[in-house]
Amino acid sequence: MEILSHIIYLISSVFFILGIKKLGSPKTARVGNQFAAIGMLLAIVITLFDHQIISFTYIIIGLVLGSAIGALMATKVQMTGMPQMVGLLNGFGGGASALVAISEYFKILNEPTMMFEVNTTITIILSILIGSVTLTGSFIAFGKLQGIVTGAVVKYPLQHPINFILLMAVIAGGAYIVINPMEINILLVIVGVSLVLGVLLVLPIGGADMPVAVSLLNSYSGLAASATGFVLGNNVLIIAGALVGASGFILTMIMCRGMNRSLMNVLLGGWDSAGSAPAAAGGAKDAPQKPVKSVDAEEAAMIFDTASSVVIVPGYGMAVAQAQHAIRDLTNALEKKGIKVRFAIHPVAGRMPGHMNVLLAEANIDYDKLYALEDINDDFSNTDVAFIIGANDVVNPAARHDQSSPIYGMPILNVDYAKTVIMNKRSMNVGYAGISNELFFYDNTMMYFGDAKDAVSKLVNEIKAL
Ligand code: TAP
Repeated sequence: MEILSHIIYLISSVFFILGIKKLGSPKTARVGNQFAAIGMLLAIVITLFDHQIISFTYIIIGLVLGSAIGALMATKVQMTGMPQMVGLLNGFGGGASALVAISEYFKILNEPTMMFEVNTTITIILSILIGSVTLTGSFIAFGKLQGIVTGAVVKYPLQHPINFILLMAVIAGGAYIVINPMEINILLVIVGVSLVLGVLLVLPIGGADMPVAVSLLNSYSGLAASATGFVLGNNVLIIAGALVGASGFILTMIMCRGMNRSLMNVLLGGWDSAGSAPAAAGGAKDAPQKPVKSVDAEEAAMIFDTASSVVIVPGYGMAVAQAQHAIRDLTNALEKKGIKVRFAIHPVAGRMPGHMNVLLAEANIDYDKLYALEDINDDFSNTDVAFIIGANDVVNPAARHDQSSPIYGMPILNVDYAKTVIMNKRSMNVGYAGISNELFFYDNTMMYFGDAKDAVSKLVNEIKAL
């Protein structure tokens, strides 16, 4: 049976690896998800049959309760609330790893035939540290995204020395436990300090930087699971945890690169303005007092009517307005007139990785029409109309030339190279970075004010009427 369980664990690990590979492209992502689910099912089934389960009662109660809560959360959550839900789930993953490590500690403690081995004790401590930090850190991330905890960048005296001392305390306590494994009180102190550390590490990060923090916490939850895998001597847990740890970290770095920020800059507090309340309606913060050209639905429709190629640039406002279905109608209406329509997707448009891709897929917009920044940026100069829907920072030309701008150096979509730019948003307000966008005032830019869903629907009606 043991050999069989190892073979099945190996097969499920292969499913996890193939699953992650297929998640790399929107076209194969659904199959990737199914592969990973099959891998997980195999791993769970063999674990239940092979590991001398004493009673299935608690497992079944947990399964039913957990599935019911999970299904309810998944159906109730809005797309815009997805980052905090992912954050919460990471936290539970980390917490579960820490609990398994703690119970393994007590199992060895209470079992006269078992001995504490140095490597097992070290991995128990690691699992408790990373798992507990992930648990409370994720709760704070959830609270910030949900508006329960302040979204501001929190700074207080001796912030970093305090965190460093707490980390050192956990390491010293861990070393003590390795030498004196029977010291339960020290173990409990390690748990407590690790939980506090999670709060203190995430609290300083600005609310709008939370998606990056959530991605990093996701990576931590994988590392915690991997450490627990070592505690239990369970290969599939080690491999799956390592995959989550590595992919979470890669994603974190991709997000940082997309924003031209260092991970340290995000973790140590980052932009003070990030995620702050928008400037008063009608006037962007620091905006030059220049007039802008604005168009209504009818005028915008006439501009589209003369175009032969259109590139649509969606951003956070599209997600807020849930305008993706209206955008699909717009795409159909333009294509009916023989106009070529493509979408330009910035890697950090919206508030979470793949945010725009998921919404456009939900509206059945063909993946082949979606272009990554590097694949479309050179084409804007051959584009008649760049239509920006609820995007702001990702099209701000200041990133290319204004060295004083917080987004200087961030790769942006070169929409301003198109013949005409039509920019839909509700007002002159700033986006996530809290800075004015000079694109509003460019000669080839027309502002089309209004809520994205409403404005795009009106535009579709006007285009159809022409
Ligand atoms: P933003 O720069 O945040 O701009 C979004 C714009 O949408 C706002 O200026 C807002 O202007 C407009 N808007 C809001 N609600 C709207 C509605 N109902 N209808 C129409 N417009 C609406 O968005 P972006 O260009 O997508 O850039 C994303 C930003 O988030 C970047 O700075 C990025 O670094 C940051 N970020 C992204 C991620 C990921 S992974 N995607 C993670 C962390 C941070 P009005 O108020 O005037 O309408």
